[in-house]
Amino acid sequence: MTRHAPPPAYRTLDADGIRAVLAAQPALAARLGGPPGAWRVREVSDGNLNNVFLIGGPAGGVCVKQSLPHVRVDPDWKMPLDRTAFEAAYLRAVRPHVGDLTTDILHFDPDLFVLVVESLDRHVVLRHGLMQGGDWPDAARAVGAFVARACFHTSPLALPFERAFDLLEPFARNHTLTRITVDLVLTDPYRVHPRNHWLSPELDPIAAEIRADPAVRRRVGALQARFLTCRQALLHGDLHTGSVMVSTGGNQAETQAETRIIDGEFALPGPIGFDCGLFVGNLLMHLFARGDADAETRILRDVARFWTTFRTDFTTLWRDAIAAGTAGDAVPADLFGHDPSLLRQAQDDLLRDIESDMVGFAATEIIRRILGYAHVPDFDLAPDRAHRAHRQNAALRLARDLLADPDRTGTTDALLALARRHAQAARHTKV
Ligand SMILES: Nc1ncnc2c1ncn2[C@@H]1O[C@H](COP(=O)(O)OP(=O)(O)OP(=O)(O)O)[C@@H](O)[C@H]1O
Ligand SMILES: [Mg+2]
Repeated sequence: MTRHAPPPAYRTLDADGIRAVLAAQPALAARLGGPPGAWRVREVSDGNLNNVFLIGGPAGGVCVKQSLPHVRVDPDWKMPLDRTAFEAAYLRAVRPHVGDLTTDILHFDPDLFVLVVESLDRHVVLRHGLMQGGDWPDAARAVGAFVARACFHTSPLALPFERAFDLLEPFARNHTLTRITVDLVLTDPYRVHPRNHWLSPELDPIAAEIRADPAVRRRVGALQARFLTCRQALLHGDLHTGSVMVSTGGNQAETQAETRIIDGEFALPGPIGFDCGLFVGNLLMHLFARGDADAETRILRDVARFWTTFRTDFTTLWRDAIAAGTAGDAVPADLFGHDPSLLRQAQDDLLRDIESDMVGFAATEIIRRILGYAHVPDFDLAPDRAHRAHRQNAALRLARDLLADPDRTGTTDALLALARRHAQAARHTKV
């Protein structure tokens, strides 16, 4: 049962409260160095849900995230506190497989629902960096590698089913945040609902079209079923460009930049293409929000790099596990004997399903981030309201086409071609 009342020991921490919690943990105090009074506490919360602070001391820094008994940006929307516990559990589950593609977990306090991780103070959120005109040519590859490793190693492809089920089971209880995904991401935009909103009446016709189109509704129903019934692996569950941080520096340094995935509080067992689709959908929205030919080249490059890296890494991990005799129950090594072509076919079949899911979930992400409850700021790059509506309209048309014809659009190549066509049409239409 979901508990809304905070436990008795819970209190929302202010700067002094944070210093006291950190000072009580010798390893954390040593990491920061100096006396607690010398620690600088800076709030960096910019999401909808939690309080997040960076704490810097003479020797180093940490990041403190605390869940609140309500949505951060809407105190009337009450919410249980367990989301940082799910984020901590996700980090523990994937960190051994993804290493520095995420943050190290330094401490979790189950009474205060406080999670302490490494501070990424040389990093910016990828969404913000892109909005400021930056380019991180390796970030999409890093996210592809992250999804491949996190998902492969938590699936019955890599594990005996008993271990996979034991690992996934606690995350199946992430009811509160999964309910948000089911309602706000996969349901609301396809019905008239007070949580939906958009900034320009120019979007009314496409919003109505998306709600009414039977092919779209059929595909959305299929994706809802995939999301809730296809428990392939442990997902991050909220892998948008705001959940990726990249290190900053000059252009030269950015080529070797680090990429870290943060904010795994939505973790749940689900279809791998959901994580892929959220990331790709957010890249595509950035392309449309910017609207120029240069962004089109860079973003389509990143979508292709993401998918190619994910596909290569995932199939390599799988092939190596089979060769080593350590593969899980879903693909026991002896099923393929020494027939590499049979293994390749089995891999192609599964990867095709993931790819098609990716395209579908990318489309639902675009739709919900323009017509649903929580929008992305990328479209604020447009010079005025008319341009913003025009660019959002183009992104929605792409999403509608992707959902309406999954048989023809369910591959990365088809997605890239269609995105290019819609982006170019939007550029060549007078606003
Ligand atoms: N380890 C970290 N180091 C430095 N900054 C961080 C770190 N983790 C988070 N941040 C900053 O804090 C912000 C909010 O963090 P996060 O996205 O985890 O919060 P959230 O409340 O879960 O957000 P959302 O509502 O989007 O889910 C990030 O956008 C980033 O700017
Ligand atoms: Mg979050």
